[in-house]
Amino acid sequence: MKVAISPLAALPFVLLVVTACQSTPPPVADGSQASAPPAPSSAPGPAAPRSPVFSETARNIANNCFTCHGPDGKSPAAIPGLSRLSAEQIAARLRSFKNGTASSTIMGRHAKAYSNAEIDAVAAYIAGVNKQAKP
Ligand code: HEC
Repeated sequence: MKVAISPLAALPFVLLVVTACQSTPPPVADGSQASAPPAPSSAPGPAAPRSPVFSETARNIANNCFTCHGPDGKSPAAIPGLSRLSAEQIAARLRSFKNGTASSTIMGRHAKAYSNAEIDAVAAYIAGVNKQAKP
């Protein structure tokens, strides 16, 4: 009978260990990753993104954008660079391309492919890269 109590008695301890193992460090501030290659919103842990779109998806989408707009949002050619734009500005521009309020050669067709959640996520991602790229 005494033995039957012990699994229950161990439960708080087990829970303590499990929670201790799961507690991830708080999201890393931008500064500590400054010298790393651009991977801004890749702060580990599933709790990081508030958007339904995972940060990895945002990065994949952003890599598309960088193909034309230049790595780190700095465009080498006639296509406008994105490094001067905030997340809100990028998202707003994409929405107006998407709904046709802004005329475009390419961006309208491109932006139509993305959901609003994806637009917000990729805009936040690119703005994060922009912040890191600045001195
Ligand atoms: C095929 C090349 C190409 C790709 C890929 C592309 N863009 Fe563009 N982007 C352009 C061009 C060209 C323009 C100028 C408007 C136009 O003619 O479509 C532009 C304009 C913009 C602007 C407006 C900039 C300003 O100064 O007002 C934003 C914001 C933008 N793109 C964001 C994005 C994002 C975010 C992505 C990825 C989801 C992306 N673009 C992918 C070519 C591209």
